[in-house]
Amino acid sequence: MTERERRGEPASLAERRGLETRVYQPAEDSGLLAKAAVERVSGLVLEVGTGSGWVAETVARETGARVIASDVNPHACRQARARAEGADERGGSVEVVRADLLTPFRGGTFDAVLFNPPYLPTDPENEWDDWMEAALSGGETGRKLIEPFLDDVGRVLAPDGVVLLLVSSLSGFDEVVARAERRGFAAETVVEESYPFESLSVLLLRR
Ligand SMILES: C[S@@+](CC[C@H](N)C(=O)[O-])C[C@H]1O[C@@H](n2cnc3c(N)ncnc32)[C@H](O)[C@@H]1O
Repeated sequence: MTERERRGEPASLAERRGLETRVYQPAEDSGLLAKAAVERVSGLVLEVGTGSGWVAETVARETGARVIASDVNPHACRQARARAEGADERGGSVEVVRADLLTPFRGGTFDAVLFNPPYLPTDPENEWDDWMEAALSGGETGRKLIEPFLDDVGRVLAPDGVVLLLVSSLSGFDEVVARAERRGFAAETVVEESYPFESLSVLLLRR
């Protein structure tokens, strides 16, 4: 356990990268997404790529929302499900399903969809084949998961539904906004933090 975790705070990216081999643990990006979400979401919420389940559990606890948390990584699903068992006692609820992006979800369903995607640009020569790569690598552009997510997320949103998407400067902020706009969304930055190696923003997307 890192010093920040002992204080009840999410560990920094630098502390966590390299320590955990299978499930992405909450870091600055997770904290920013949760902060943006607890102020803005309610009803039925989907968190895509839930990892440890910390964002889903925080949102359920703080807002009373019913959160569906999904991940393609079975180890993440197990960890998120174990964490979710406590969420009901504190208000809200979390249900965990294994899923590839938005594939199994019915159209017109969610009041909000949250996603902290894998976003690090990765040279194909240097890709490593494990679950942590699936959590971190966004392919050559950093947008390998972001683009199909933006292309499909409008389908699963309820009529007034919103999307909260974590975007790093490393994966091309302008390109992400342009893709969202092409898919019919208006984009607004609602949370932003700068770090020595990147800036992180949370985009609120509405139709
Ligand atoms: C950067 S981590 C974020 C984890 C967590 N939401 C957080 O903020 O701490 C990205 C997550 O997306 C998941 N993921 C990667 N590809 C996915 C896919 N095709 N469908 C669903 N989840 C995916 C990874 O397994 C990982 O848990």
